[in-house]
Amino acid sequence: TTHRILITEPIPEKAIDFLKQHGEVTVGEKGTYQNQEHLIRDIKGYDALLCMLSNPVNKRVLEAADRLKIVANFAVGYDNIDVETAHELGIKVANTPDVLTEACGDYAMGLLMALSRKFNEAEAYLREGNFTGWEPLGFLGMELRNKTLGIIGMGRIGQAFARRARAFGMQIKYHNRSRINPEIEKELEATYIADHYELARQSDVLSLNCPLTEETHHLVDRNLLEIMPEHALLVNISRGAVIDEAELAKALKEEVIVGAALDVFENEPEVNPELLKTPNTLLLPHIASATHETREAIGMLAAQAIADILEGKLASEVPNLIRP
Ligand code: GLV
Ligand code: GLV
Repeated sequence: TTHRILITEPIPEKAIDFLKQHGEVTVGEKGTYQNQEHLIRDIKGYDALLCMLSNPVNKRVLEAADRLKIVANFAVGYDNIDVETAHELGIKVANTPDVLTEACGDYAMGLLMALSRKFNEAEAYLREGNFTGWEPLGFLGMELRNKTLGIIGMGRIGQAFARRARAFGMQIKYHNRSRINPEIEKELEATYIADHYELARQSDVLSLNCPLTEETHHLVDRNLLEIMPEHALLVNISRGAVIDEAELAKALKEEVIVGAALDVFENEPEVNPELLKTPNTLLLPHIASATHETREAIGMLAAQAIADILEGKLASEVPNLIRP
């Protein structure tokens, strides 16, 4: 019988065409499956689900499925999927590591440049007609050279950011569940700090590059923000809930730290209205991996995992499956 494949949103054409060679493909309309009830209603009869990080693939959704063999997330992070339940039900889960690392490294560096040099505030000032002449004291930012970049979560993306920051003369310190490969540590001249509060204390810029887990939920809380230097900047391209957003908004208003660049939010697509009121904040709609090249590669990697599983390949032959 023909395999049925549900892709929850339009993705790059190449990946859709590829999957059409492996089954009957349905592509959902933008946003429809952000609603779990819609997923629960429609998941029956599908052998494979290619979903977005905005789709809650939780226990109820997985239990509503009757012939699902694989869920492939169009993302490296997979906190939107109840992996444990999927595995209990014999459903494989895939993500898309590696293919978005460099795009995310570029983007994190770009956010830091924009934040530290106040691009958004200065541009708004010009567009509003306030530029009346060169100002010796206008929009003074923080230079990156000789500053310390503290990275929480030194995986592929954290390392890609570190590599770029090194080229700007920054010193790298990091916190991670475990120390990284000593050769990479040496290449980046990166210092491991076992305690994330201590890392926050020593960082001029703190970057979040860890997955969202029970351990990292609200890792950036009031205490941590207060430990950071007053001139410090915060960059987050991981998941919104790694930060206690209400506390961050307060801390920015009270000038506990200078600024934050956020690509991700706790309750996407909602953005905390208090954050919207903070001037020293760069807020972007979750676009760290958004290049033509990378989004196509993400689509192809997710699609390949689906094709492999539907064709009966062994789990051990599909490199981007999440291991139980
Ligand atoms: C994006 O946030 C991803 O996890 O790929
Ligand atoms: C983590 O998922 C990474 O690729 O850094």
